[in-house]
Amino acid sequence: MATVVVDQTELALQREYSYMNASYFVERGDARGYRFTYYVRTYGCQLNESDSEKLKGILNGMSLTSSHSEDADILIFNTCSIRENAQDRLFGNLGLVKAMKKKNPDMVVAVCGCMMKQDDNVQKIRQSYPFVDIIFGPADIHRLPELLHTYLFNQKKVYQVSQTDYIVDDLDIPIDRMRRFRALVPINYGCDNFCTYCIVPYTRGRERSRPFDLIMQEIHDLASTGYKEIMLLGQNVNSYGKDLDDKPRFVDLLKAAANVKNIEVLRFMTSHPKDLSDEVIEVMADYPVIETHLHLPLQSGSNHILQEMNRHYTREQYIRTAKRFRERVPNGTVSTDIIVGFPGESESDFLDTLSVMEEIRFDFAYTFIYSIRQGTPAATMDNQIPQEVVSERFSRLLALQNEHAFASNQSVCGKYERVLIEGRSETAPSILTGRTHSNRLVNFNIPINSIMPDGHALREDEEIDGSLFEGELAEIFIQRARPYSVEGRLERFVHDGR
Ligand code: SAH
Ligand code: SF4
Ligand code: F3S
Repeated sequence: MATVVVDQTELALQREYSYMNASYFVERGDARGYRFTYYVRTYGCQLNESDSEKLKGILNGMSLTSSHSEDADILIFNTCSIRENAQDRLFGNLGLVKAMKKKNPDMVVAVCGCMMKQDDNVQKIRQSYPFVDIIFGPADIHRLPELLHTYLFNQKKVYQVSQTDYIVDDLDIPIDRMRRFRALVPINYGCDNFCTYCIVPYTRGRERSRPFDLIMQEIHDLASTGYKEIMLLGQNVNSYGKDLDDKPRFVDLLKAAANVKNIEVLRFMTSHPKDLSDEVIEVMADYPVIETHLHLPLQSGSNHILQEMNRHYTREQYIRTAKRFRERVPNGTVSTDIIVGFPGESESDFLDTLSVMEEIRFDFAYTFIYSIRQGTPAATMDNQIPQEVVSERFSRLLALQNEHAFASNQSVCGKYERVLIEGRSETAPSILTGRTHSNRLVNFNIPINSIMPDGHALREDEEIDGSLFEGELAEIFIQRARPYSVEGRLERFVHDGR
């Protein structure tokens, strides 16, 4: 299906719907002395997170306020179909909505995102969860005002899952960013790689890049409004621009973004090992603003399985690229994604994966049990691996990875690390959390008498409001390693890079 650029006429129409919906909500709200609320729940990857930020921006534009719980007037589930458990979580959560809707019959329930591109999921929702009012696809985000309007004014359920690969190129699309300091900036949408296990090319459509100038304009705007961290997003950022007439390259985009003033951290994901060039590694080594972390999904260490997965690289090529990064970015970290139990994986294939892990010693890794995705080539391969074999392999893999991750974290103990603060730890309010430039998760405390960003010394009885520190830079003394994080104490807050 061809890519369709959503133009200004279409966007003006959506704004029109948005105004009409706003009057609807405001009038009804005023009559009850109340403001209508919304809640968007996101499953899946950062691209889905980015879509949710747009949904929230659009909902804000309709005079709705954000609610902190699912007990809202408009409830949207933005779904993910990457693995079975992501789907199960949606159905579990939907089950709870029925009672909420009984309590508040005006509640509008919408489901969107990747799962809606699979017809069996849409059918299941229509049959088993009839209280869902609106269903739309991952390409239909910008049409939310129209879909909501159709539902509100016709009181008929709306099912709109476009098969077209839209690209919305407008800096005026409102975005309600989840973090005050971090901006997600998609650079390309969709995926053309068709790894045989993966559903994304079917749910997100063909790869399509945003124009270079538009991305740069967005980054400049973000930097001038105080965003400290920019994250360039795409399923395969390294193939950015191939579909555009002027063929801009990712490496040039990365350099241009790295030259934007007032940004502390520039990150990007995901890199496909077949497309990550040495030139990109050189740029990572040369520009201090780019994080010293490379996420490079391995998937498997067996050449035979890599071929069956349609990954287009060998273990040797992968090892070469990862080692090159290690050489050029000495204190950097390498993370990866690994799938265990792909059809046909023998014990010796699995040992090949462990041996790549031994060779690279990943600083952290996302490890997955292979999950059959209907409609992908791997789903019909006849040599699926029995569950007990997969579970046993998975625990061996996890044990090895935990050992490597722990050792990696131990290597920074006793050192000072600069950390961009993300907020308060969810479990302990007096502990703050952040990430180092190499993307290590750091939990730290602020000792009494520390000089706070506003110049006063922290008092013994003073409560720490973590949200105030979001986006601040701090130097942290690392004291202890954990498998997935490190712990330390604040040395000092850092202002303006000093
Ligand atoms: N585009 C990125 C990430 C895609 S999804 C990339 O190519 O790396 C994130 C991860 O989910 C993948 O890297 C893969 O490890 C995992 N994944 C995808 N499909 C899966 C499946 N069917 N079963 C298990 N894990 C899967
Ligand atoms: Fe899926 Fe492969 Fe595309 Fe990543 S590169 S999204 S794993 S098909
Ligand atoms: Fe999931 Fe869709 Fe992202 S399947 S991982 S939300 S692209």
